[in-house]
Amino acid sequence: MNPRSHHHAHWHGFTQMAEYEPLVIERAEGCWLTTTDGRRLFDGVASLWCNVHGHGHPHINKAIRDQLERVAHVTTLGMSSDTTERLAQLLAKITPGDLSHVFFSSDGSSAVEAALKMAFQYWQQREDPRPKKTRYLALGSAYHGDTTGAVSLGGISYFHELFGPILFSPIRGPVPCSYRLPEGVNESSACDHYAQTIEALLEEHAPTIAAVVMEPLVQGAGGMITHPIGFLGRVRELCDRYEVLLICDEVATGFGRTGRMFASQHESVTPDILCLGKGLTGGYLPLAATVARPHVYKAFLAPQTESRQFFHGHTFGGNPLAAAAAIASIELFQSSGVVESVDAKAARLRHRLGQATDHPNVGDIRGRGLMIGIELVADRESKTAFDPKHQIGRAVCHNAMRRGVWIRPLGDVIVVVPPLVAENDELDNLADVIIESVESELPGGDSGVSTIASRVEQIP
Ligand SMILES: Cc1ncc(COP(=O)(O)O)c(C=O)c1O
Repeated sequence: MNPRSHHHAHWHGFTQMAEYEPLVIERAEGCWLTTTDGRRLFDGVASLWCNVHGHGHPHINKAIRDQLERVAHVTTLGMSSDTTERLAQLLAKITPGDLSHVFFSSDGSSAVEAALKMAFQYWQQREDPRPKKTRYLALGSAYHGDTTGAVSLGGISYFHELFGPILFSPIRGPVPCSYRLPEGVNESSACDHYAQTIEALLEEHAPTIAAVVMEPLVQGAGGMITHPIGFLGRVRELCDRYEVLLICDEVATGFGRTGRMFASQHESVTPDILCLGKGLTGGYLPLAATVARPHVYKAFLAPQTESRQFFHGHTFGGNPLAAAAAIASIELFQSSGVVESVDAKAARLRHRLGQATDHPNVGDIRGRGLMIGIELVADRESKTAFDPKHQIGRAVCHNAMRRGVWIRPLGDVIVVVPPLVAENDELDNLADVIIESVESELPGGDSGVSTIASRVEQIP
Protein backbone atom coordinates (compact mmCIF):
# COMPACT_ATOMS: atom_id res chain seq x y z
CA MET A 1 0.00 0.00 0.00
CA ASN A 2 1.24 3.44 -0.86
CA PRO A 3 2.14 5.04 2.53
CA ARG A 4 0.93 8.40 1.19
CA SER A 5 -2.37 6.97 -0.02
CA HIS A 6 -4.44 9.20 2.20
CA HIS A 7 -2.42 12.31 1.38
CA HIS A 8 -4.78 13.16 -1.42
CA ALA A 9 -4.11 16.29 -3.45
CA HIS A 10 -7.81 16.49 -4.21
CA TRP A 11 -9.87 17.31 -1.10
CA HIS A 12 -13.42 16.09 -1.77
CA GLY A 13 -16.61 17.67 -0.44
CA PHE A 14 -18.73 15.76 2.09
CA THR A 15 -16.13 12.97 2.01
CA GLN A 16 -14.06 11.62 4.89
CA MET A 17 -10.63 11.82 3.32
CA ALA A 18 -9.02 9.61 5.98
CA GLU A 19 -11.10 6.70 4.67
CA TYR A 20 -11.43 7.70 1.04
CA GLU A 21 -10.49 5.15 -1.57
CA PRO A 22 -10.20 6.90 -4.95
CA LEU A 23 -12.95 6.31 -7.45
CA VAL A 24 -11.86 8.04 -10.63
CA ILE A 25 -13.91 8.26 -13.81
CA GLU A 26 -12.15 8.29 -17.13
CA ARG A 27 -15.12 8.56 -19.46
CA ALA A 28 -18.88 8.30 -19.54
CA GLU A 29 -21.53 7.53 -22.09
CA GLY A 30 -25.30 7.57 -21.67
CA CYS A 31 -26.04 6.53 -18.09
CA TRP A 32 -22.76 4.68 -17.61
CA LEU A 33 -19.47 5.76 -16.06
CA THR A 34 -16.16 4.03 -16.79
CA THR A 35 -13.48 4.18 -14.10
CA THR A 36 -9.75 4.48 -14.73
CA ASP A 37 -9.41 0.82 -13.73
CA GLY A 38 -11.97 -0.22 -16.33
CA ARG A 39 -15.11 -0.79 -14.19
CA ARG A 40 -18.47 0.24 -15.62
CA LEU A 41 -20.92 1.82 -13.16
CA PHE A 42 -24.52 2.89 -13.71
CA ASP A 43 -24.83 6.57 -12.73
CA GLY A 44 -27.71 6.09 -10.27
CA VAL A 45 -27.47 9.64 -8.89
CA ALA A 46 -27.14 11.40 -12.27
CA SER A 47 -23.76 12.83 -11.21
CA LEU A 48 -25.30 14.49 -8.18
CA TRP A 49 -28.81 14.92 -9.56
CA CYS A 50 -27.88 17.00 -12.57
CA ASN A 51 -27.48 14.74 -15.59
CA VAL A 52 -30.64 14.70 -17.70
CA HIS A 53 -29.94 13.45 -21.25
CA GLY A 54 -27.08 11.09 -20.43
CA HIS A 55 -23.34 11.65 -20.72
CA GLY A 56 -21.62 12.46 -24.00
CA HIS A 57 -24.79 13.47 -25.83
CA PRO A 58 -23.69 14.53 -29.33
CA HIS A 59 -26.06 17.53 -29.48
CA ILE A 60 -24.77 19.07 -26.24
CA ASN A 61 -21.13 18.18 -27.02
CA LYS A 62 -21.40 19.86 -30.42
CA ALA A 63 -23.02 23.00 -28.99
CA ILE A 64 -20.16 23.41 -26.52
CA ARG A 65 -17.53 22.80 -29.23
CA ASP A 66 -19.18 25.26 -31.63
CA GLN A 67 -19.34 27.91 -28.92
CA LEU A 68 -15.70 27.31 -28.06
CA GLU A 69 -14.77 28.21 -31.64
CA ARG A 70 -16.48 31.60 -31.17
CA VAL A 71 -15.85 32.78 -27.59
CA ALA A 72 -15.26 30.84 -24.37
CA HIS A 73 -16.00 33.57 -21.88
CA VAL A 74 -17.05 37.20 -21.56
CA THR A 75 -18.47 38.89 -18.50
CA THR A 76 -22.18 39.53 -17.96
CA LEU A 77 -21.49 42.70 -15.97
CA GLY A 78 -22.61 45.44 -18.35
CA MET A 79 -22.32 43.23 -21.46
CA SER A 80 -23.05 39.70 -22.65
CA SER A 81 -22.59 37.08 -25.36
CA ASP A 82 -25.27 36.41 -27.96
CA THR A 83 -25.54 32.83 -26.65
CA THR A 84 -26.19 33.96 -23.09
CA GLU A 85 -28.79 36.42 -24.40
CA ARG A 86 -30.54 33.63 -26.26
CA LEU A 87 -30.59 31.46 -23.16
CA ALA A 88 -32.11 34.26 -21.05
CA GLN A 89 -34.92 34.61 -23.62
CA LEU A 90 -35.49 30.87 -23.64
CA LEU A 91 -35.61 30.63 -19.84
CA ALA A 92 -38.06 33.53 -19.70
CA LYS A 93 -40.24 31.56 -22.09
CA ILE A 94 -40.14 28.13 -20.40
CA THR A 95 -40.25 29.10 -16.70
CA PRO A 96 -43.70 29.31 -15.07
CA GLY A 97 -46.04 32.29 -15.39
CA ASP A 98 -44.48 35.72 -15.83
CA LEU A 99 -41.03 34.81 -14.51
CA SER A 100 -39.00 36.69 -17.08
CA HIS A 101 -35.78 38.30 -15.81
CA VAL A 102 -32.81 35.96 -15.53
CA PHE A 103 -29.80 36.63 -13.34
CA PHE A 104 -26.96 34.15 -13.99
CA SER A 105 -24.45 32.60 -11.61
CA SER A 106 -22.48 29.36 -11.66
CA ASP A 107 -23.92 26.96 -9.09
CA GLY A 108 -27.08 26.32 -7.13
CA SER A 109 -25.83 27.84 -3.88
CA SER A 110 -25.00 31.07 -5.70
CA ALA A 111 -28.47 31.12 -7.28
CA VAL A 112 -29.91 30.97 -3.75
CA GLU A 113 -27.55 33.67 -2.43
CA ALA A 114 -28.61 35.92 -5.29
CA ALA A 115 -32.28 35.25 -4.52
CA LEU A 116 -31.79 36.17 -0.83
CA LYS A 117 -30.09 39.46 -1.68
CA MET A 118 -32.57 40.20 -4.47
CA ALA A 119 -35.53 39.76 -2.12
CA PHE A 120 -33.90 41.91 0.55
CA GLN A 121 -32.93 44.70 -1.85
CA TYR A 122 -36.40 44.58 -3.41
CA TRP A 123 -38.12 45.45 -0.13
CA GLN A 124 -35.57 48.15 0.65
CA GLN A 125 -36.08 50.09 -2.54
CA ARG A 126 -39.45 49.28 -4.10
CA GLU A 127 -41.95 52.10 -4.52
CA ASP A 128 -43.54 51.43 -1.15
CA PRO A 129 -40.43 50.25 0.74
CA ARG A 130 -40.58 47.91 3.75
CA PRO A 131 -37.13 48.29 5.31
CA LYS A 132 -38.04 46.01 8.24
CA LYS A 133 -38.34 43.01 5.94
CA THR A 134 -34.89 41.58 6.57
CA ARG A 135 -35.60 37.96 7.53
CA TYR A 136 -36.50 34.72 5.78
CA LEU A 137 -38.77 31.81 6.58
CA ALA A 138 -37.17 28.47 5.75
CA LEU A 139 -38.54 24.96 6.23
CA GLY A 140 -37.31 22.41 8.73
CA SER A 141 -34.64 20.08 7.25
CA ALA A 142 -34.13 22.60 4.42
CA TYR A 143 -31.07 22.40 2.21
CA HIS A 144 -30.21 25.21 -0.19
CA GLY A 145 -26.46 24.80 -0.69
CA ASP A 146 -23.20 25.25 1.17
CA THR A 147 -22.35 28.95 0.96
CA THR A 148 -22.92 30.84 4.18
CA GLY A 149 -26.28 32.42 3.32
CA ALA A 150 -27.58 29.12 1.98
CA VAL A 151 -26.30 27.28 5.07
CA SER A 152 -28.11 29.86 7.23
CA LEU A 153 -31.37 28.75 5.61
CA GLY A 154 -30.38 25.11 6.08
CA GLY A 155 -32.13 23.00 8.67
CA ILE A 156 -30.19 19.73 8.59
CA SER A 157 -28.40 19.65 11.93
CA TYR A 158 -25.77 17.12 10.79
CA PHE A 159 -24.55 19.46 8.03
CA HIS A 160 -25.43 22.86 9.39
CA GLU A 161 -25.40 23.06 13.20
CA LEU A 162 -21.62 23.32 13.51
CA PHE A 163 -21.62 26.61 11.60
CA GLY A 164 -24.24 28.23 13.87
CA PRO A 165 -21.93 30.95 15.20
CA ILE A 166 -21.31 32.39 11.72
CA LEU A 167 -24.88 32.19 10.36
CA PHE A 168 -27.98 34.41 10.36
CA SER A 169 -31.10 32.76 11.73
CA PRO A 170 -34.22 32.33 9.66
CA ILE A 171 -37.67 31.81 11.09
CA ARG A 172 -37.93 28.05 11.04
CA GLY A 173 -41.01 26.42 9.54
CA PRO A 174 -42.17 22.81 9.87
CA VAL A 175 -40.68 19.76 8.13
CA PRO A 176 -43.67 19.11 5.83
CA CYS A 177 -42.99 15.39 5.80
CA SER A 178 -45.59 12.88 4.67
CA TYR A 179 -43.87 9.91 6.37
CA ARG A 180 -43.32 11.05 9.95
CA LEU A 181 -46.47 12.98 10.77
CA PRO A 182 -46.88 14.90 14.02
CA GLU A 183 -49.09 13.43 16.76
CA GLY A 184 -52.77 13.67 15.86
CA VAL A 185 -52.12 14.44 12.18
CA ASN A 186 -53.00 11.94 9.44
CA GLU A 187 -52.44 11.79 5.71
CA SER A 188 -55.59 13.73 4.90
CA SER A 189 -55.02 16.49 7.47
CA ALA A 190 -51.26 16.86 6.87
CA CYS A 191 -51.46 19.60 4.24
CA ASP A 192 -53.81 21.70 6.42
CA HIS A 193 -51.64 21.14 9.45
CA TYR A 194 -48.38 22.26 7.79
CA ALA A 195 -50.05 25.19 6.01
CA GLN A 196 -51.56 26.34 9.30
CA THR A 197 -48.13 26.18 10.93
CA ILE A 198 -46.74 28.42 8.17
CA GLU A 199 -49.71 30.74 8.54
CA ALA A 200 -49.16 31.11 12.29
CA LEU A 201 -45.52 32.05 11.66
CA LEU A 202 -46.49 34.57 8.98
CA GLU A 203 -49.20 35.99 11.23
CA GLU A 204 -46.55 36.71 13.83
CA HIS A 205 -43.53 37.65 11.69
CA ALA A 206 -44.65 38.75 8.20
CA PRO A 207 -43.74 42.45 8.73
CA THR A 208 -40.11 41.37 9.18
CA ILE A 209 -40.03 38.60 6.55
CA ALA A 210 -38.66 39.34 3.07
CA ALA A 211 -39.36 35.86 1.66
CA VAL A 212 -40.39 32.29 2.29
CA VAL A 213 -37.70 30.06 0.77
CA MET A 214 -38.54 26.46 -0.04
CA GLU A 215 -37.81 23.50 -2.25
CA PRO A 216 -41.15 22.71 -3.88
CA LEU A 217 -42.64 19.20 -3.50
CA VAL A 218 -39.49 17.31 -2.49
CA GLN A 219 -36.71 18.38 -0.12
CA GLY A 220 -33.85 16.47 -1.69
CA ALA A 221 -30.85 16.64 0.60
CA GLY A 222 -33.13 16.60 3.66
CA GLY A 223 -33.76 12.94 2.75
CA MET A 224 -36.20 13.18 -0.19
CA ILE A 225 -38.80 14.58 2.22
CA THR A 226 -42.00 14.57 0.21
CA HIS A 227 -44.60 17.25 0.90
CA PRO A 228 -48.32 16.59 1.03
CA ILE A 229 -50.01 17.42 -2.28
CA GLY A 230 -51.37 20.96 -2.20
CA PHE A 231 -48.86 22.32 0.33
CA LEU A 232 -46.95 24.43 -2.20
CA GLY A 233 -50.17 26.01 -3.49
CA ARG A 234 -51.18 26.86 0.08
CA VAL A 235 -47.82 28.50 0.77
CA ARG A 236 -48.21 30.58 -2.42
CA GLU A 237 -51.63 31.81 -1.23
CA LEU A 238 -50.24 32.63 2.21
CA CYS A 239 -47.29 34.56 0.76
CA ASP A 240 -49.75 36.66 -1.28
CA ARG A 241 -52.02 37.22 1.71
CA TYR A 242 -49.19 38.22 4.07
CA GLU A 243 -47.16 40.20 1.51
CA VAL A 244 -44.09 38.04 1.56
CA LEU A 245 -42.11 36.95 -1.52
CA LEU A 246 -41.98 33.26 -2.39
CA ILE A 247 -38.57 31.93 -3.46
CA CYS A 248 -38.74 28.41 -4.92
CA ASP A 249 -35.41 26.64 -4.97
CA GLU A 250 -35.74 24.30 -7.96
CA VAL A 251 -32.03 23.62 -8.18
CA ALA A 252 -32.77 19.92 -7.64
CA THR A 253 -36.41 19.62 -8.77
CA GLY A 254 -36.10 21.72 -11.95
CA PHE A 255 -35.66 20.48 -15.51
CA GLY A 256 -37.98 17.52 -15.58
CA ARG A 257 -36.89 15.69 -12.45
CA THR A 258 -40.40 15.49 -10.92
CA GLY A 259 -42.25 14.80 -14.18
CA ARG A 260 -42.96 18.43 -15.09
CA MET A 261 -40.36 20.85 -16.42
CA PHE A 262 -40.53 22.64 -13.04
CA ALA A 263 -41.99 21.18 -9.85
CA SER A 264 -43.93 24.41 -9.16
CA GLN A 265 -46.02 23.62 -12.24
CA HIS A 266 -47.58 20.60 -10.51
CA GLU A 267 -49.52 23.06 -8.35
CA SER A 268 -49.79 25.90 -10.91
CA VAL A 269 -47.55 28.06 -8.75
CA THR A 270 -45.42 30.93 -10.00
CA PRO A 271 -42.86 31.88 -7.35
CA ASP A 272 -41.70 35.51 -7.22
CA ILE A 273 -38.13 34.28 -7.56
CA LEU A 274 -37.05 30.89 -8.95
CA CYS A 275 -33.60 29.34 -8.39
CA LEU A 276 -32.22 26.96 -11.04
CA GLY A 277 -28.96 25.03 -11.37
CA LYS A 278 -27.91 21.37 -11.74
CA GLY A 279 -29.97 20.23 -14.78
CA LEU A 280 -29.91 23.67 -16.44
CA THR A 281 -27.03 22.64 -18.72
CA GLY A 282 -28.22 19.03 -18.87
CA GLY A 283 -25.63 18.58 -16.12
CA TYR A 284 -22.64 19.34 -18.39
CA LEU A 285 -21.21 22.65 -17.19
CA PRO A 286 -21.63 24.86 -14.11
CA LEU A 287 -24.44 27.35 -14.61
CA ALA A 288 -27.25 28.59 -12.39
CA ALA A 289 -30.00 31.15 -12.68
CA THR A 290 -32.16 33.27 -10.40
CA VAL A 291 -35.28 34.21 -12.30
CA ALA A 292 -37.51 37.07 -11.14
CA ARG A 293 -41.01 38.28 -11.96
CA PRO A 294 -41.51 41.80 -13.34
CA HIS A 295 -42.63 43.38 -10.03
CA VAL A 296 -39.33 42.31 -8.43
CA TYR A 297 -37.21 43.43 -11.40
CA LYS A 298 -38.92 46.82 -11.68
CA ALA A 299 -37.84 47.80 -8.16
CA PHE A 300 -34.24 47.80 -9.42
CA LEU A 301 -34.84 50.20 -12.33
CA ALA A 302 -33.83 53.84 -11.84
CA PRO A 303 -31.32 56.37 -13.13
CA GLN A 304 -27.72 55.26 -12.47
CA THR A 305 -27.25 58.03 -9.89
CA GLU A 306 -29.92 56.48 -7.62
CA SER A 307 -27.81 53.34 -7.09
CA ARG A 308 -30.63 50.83 -7.30
CA GLN A 309 -28.93 48.27 -9.53
CA PHE A 310 -28.65 44.77 -8.09
CA PHE A 311 -25.48 44.81 -6.04
CA HIS A 312 -24.38 41.30 -6.93
CA GLY A 313 -22.47 39.62 -9.77
CA HIS A 314 -20.17 36.67 -10.44
CA THR A 315 -17.17 36.53 -12.78
CA PHE A 316 -18.37 33.43 -14.60
CA GLY A 317 -22.14 33.89 -14.29
CA GLY A 318 -23.76 33.26 -17.67
CA ASN A 319 -20.59 31.81 -19.19
CA PRO A 320 -21.21 31.30 -22.94
CA LEU A 321 -19.97 27.69 -23.05
CA ALA A 322 -22.35 26.79 -20.25
CA ALA A 323 -25.13 28.82 -21.89
CA ALA A 324 -24.56 26.91 -25.16
CA ALA A 325 -24.89 23.62 -23.27
CA ALA A 326 -28.09 24.88 -21.60
CA ILE A 327 -29.66 25.90 -24.92
CA ALA A 328 -28.78 22.51 -26.40
CA SER A 329 -30.27 20.78 -23.36
CA ILE A 330 -33.51 22.79 -23.64
CA GLU A 331 -33.66 21.95 -27.37
CA LEU A 332 -33.40 18.28 -26.44
CA PHE A 333 -36.19 18.70 -23.90
CA GLN A 334 -38.33 20.21 -26.66
CA SER A 335 -37.58 17.50 -29.22
CA SER A 336 -37.18 14.31 -27.19
CA GLY A 337 -40.29 14.20 -24.98
CA VAL A 338 -38.05 13.23 -22.06
CA VAL A 339 -40.12 15.12 -19.45
CA GLU A 340 -43.27 13.43 -20.70
CA SER A 341 -41.56 10.05 -20.25
CA VAL A 342 -40.74 10.61 -16.58
CA ASP A 343 -44.12 9.61 -15.10
CA ALA A 344 -44.13 6.20 -16.82
CA LYS A 345 -40.48 5.54 -15.97
CA ALA A 346 -41.04 6.60 -12.36
CA ALA A 347 -44.09 4.34 -12.07
CA ARG A 348 -42.08 1.40 -13.40
CA LEU A 349 -39.14 2.09 -11.09
CA ARG A 350 -41.43 2.56 -8.07
CA HIS A 351 -43.29 -0.65 -8.89
CA ARG A 352 -40.06 -2.62 -9.13
CA LEU A 353 -38.65 -1.05 -5.95
CA GLY A 354 -41.99 -1.84 -4.34
CA GLN A 355 -40.89 -5.48 -4.17
CA ALA A 356 -38.71 -4.32 -1.29
CA THR A 357 -41.60 -3.02 0.78
CA ASP A 358 -41.92 -6.43 2.48
CA HIS A 359 -38.41 -6.09 3.85
CA PRO A 360 -38.73 -5.26 7.57
CA ASN A 361 -36.14 -2.46 7.33
CA VAL A 362 -37.62 -0.64 4.36
CA GLY A 363 -39.59 2.08 6.11
CA ASP A 364 -40.68 4.25 3.20
CA ILE A 365 -40.26 4.65 -0.53
CA ARG A 366 -41.08 8.23 -1.47
CA GLY A 367 -40.45 11.12 -3.84
CA ARG A 368 -41.87 12.55 -7.05
CA GLY A 369 -40.93 11.50 -10.57
CA LEU A 370 -37.35 10.27 -10.85
CA MET A 371 -36.40 11.78 -7.50
CA ILE A 372 -36.85 8.88 -5.12
CA GLY A 373 -35.68 8.06 -1.60
CA ILE A 374 -35.83 4.70 0.18
CA GLU A 375 -35.63 5.14 3.93
CA LEU A 376 -34.15 2.22 5.85
CA VAL A 377 -35.27 2.00 9.47
CA ALA A 378 -34.45 -0.19 12.44
CA ASP A 379 -38.14 -0.73 13.17
CA ARG A 380 -40.79 -0.22 10.55
CA GLU A 381 -43.73 -0.09 12.92
CA SER A 382 -42.35 2.73 15.06
CA LYS A 383 -40.32 4.26 12.16
CA THR A 384 -37.28 4.21 14.44
CA ALA A 385 -34.07 5.14 12.67
CA PHE A 386 -30.94 3.01 12.87
CA ASP A 387 -28.20 4.17 15.16
CA PRO A 388 -26.00 6.28 12.82
CA LYS A 389 -22.93 4.35 13.96
CA HIS A 390 -24.15 1.41 11.86
CA GLN A 391 -23.81 3.49 8.64
CA ILE A 392 -26.47 1.36 6.96
CA GLY A 393 -27.02 3.68 4.00
CA ARG A 394 -23.33 3.77 3.23
CA ALA A 395 -23.01 0.00 3.48
CA VAL A 396 -25.93 -0.56 1.09
CA CYS A 397 -24.52 1.91 -1.46
CA HIS A 398 -21.10 0.33 -1.25
CA ASN A 399 -22.67 -3.05 -1.84
CA ALA A 400 -24.49 -1.64 -4.90
CA MET A 401 -21.20 -0.35 -6.28
CA ARG A 402 -19.78 -3.85 -6.18
CA ARG A 403 -22.80 -4.83 -8.30
CA GLY A 404 -22.11 -2.07 -10.86
CA VAL A 405 -24.40 0.73 -9.64
CA TRP A 406 -23.14 4.04 -8.29
CA ILE A 407 -25.51 5.54 -5.69
CA ARG A 408 -24.86 7.81 -2.71
CA PRO A 409 -26.99 7.82 0.43
CA LEU A 410 -28.31 10.63 2.59
CA GLY A 411 -27.89 9.03 5.99
CA ASP A 412 -30.04 5.91 5.80
CA VAL A 413 -32.06 7.17 2.86
CA ILE A 414 -30.96 5.49 -0.37
CA VAL A 415 -31.15 8.14 -3.07
CA VAL A 416 -32.40 7.05 -6.49
CA VAL A 417 -32.02 9.87 -9.01
CA PRO A 418 -30.98 8.41 -12.38
CA PRO A 419 -30.54 10.43 -15.58
CA LEU A 420 -34.01 11.09 -17.04
CA VAL A 421 -33.10 9.21 -20.23
CA ALA A 422 -32.43 5.93 -18.40
CA GLU A 423 -34.06 3.08 -20.34
CA ASN A 424 -36.54 0.65 -18.83
CA ASP A 425 -34.01 -2.18 -18.61
CA GLU A 426 -31.52 0.14 -16.90
CA LEU A 427 -34.17 1.21 -14.38
CA ASP A 428 -35.10 -2.43 -13.75
CA ASN A 429 -31.45 -3.24 -13.13
CA LEU A 430 -31.10 -0.23 -10.83
CA ALA A 431 -34.09 -1.37 -8.75
CA ASP A 432 -32.92 -4.99 -8.64
CA VAL A 433 -29.41 -4.03 -7.54
CA ILE A 434 -30.75 -1.78 -4.79
CA ILE A 435 -33.05 -4.52 -3.47
CA GLU A 436 -30.26 -7.12 -3.61
CA SER A 437 -27.93 -4.71 -1.80
CA VAL A 438 -30.47 -4.03 0.95
CA GLU A 439 -31.14 -7.76 1.33
CA SER A 440 -27.45 -8.53 1.37
CA GLU A 441 -26.63 -5.92 4.03
CA LEU A 442 -29.73 -6.57 6.12
CA PRO A 443 -30.20 -10.30 5.54
CA GLY A 444 -32.42 -11.07 8.49
CA GLY A 445 -34.15 -7.74 8.79
CA ASP A 446 -32.90 -5.65 11.70
CA SER A 447 -31.02 -8.60 13.21
CA GLY A 448 -28.45 -8.11 10.44
CA VAL A 449 -27.22 -4.86 11.96
CA SER A 450 -24.45 -6.40 13.99
CA THR A 451 -23.04 -7.96 10.80
CA ILE A 452 -23.04 -4.55 9.16
CA ALA A 453 -21.47 -2.80 12.10
CA SER A 454 -18.45 -5.04 11.91
CA ARG A 455 -18.25 -4.97 8.13
CA VAL A 456 -18.61 -1.22 7.78
CA GLU A 457 -15.22 -0.67 9.35
CA GLN A 458 -13.64 -1.98 6.17
CA ILE A 459 -15.67 0.23 3.87
CA PRO A 460 -13.68 3.05 2.29
C1 LIG B 1 -32.31 22.30 -3.50
C2 LIG B 1 -30.87 22.64 -3.66
N1 LIG B 1 -30.49 23.92 -3.61
C3 LIG B 1 -29.22 24.28 -3.78
C4 LIG B 1 -28.24 23.34 -3.98
C5 LIG B 1 -26.81 23.76 -4.12
O1 LIG B 1 -26.37 23.63 -5.42
P1 LIG B 1 -24.80 23.58 -5.73
O2 LIG B 1 -24.30 22.32 -5.14
O3 LIG B 1 -24.75 23.61 -7.24
O4 LIG B 1 -24.21 24.79 -5.11
C6 LIG B 1 -28.58 21.98 -4.03
C7 LIG B 1 -27.54 20.95 -4.23
O5 LIG B 1 -27.72 19.80 -4.01
C8 LIG B 1 -29.93 21.63 -3.85
O6 LIG B 1 -30.31 20.34 -3.85
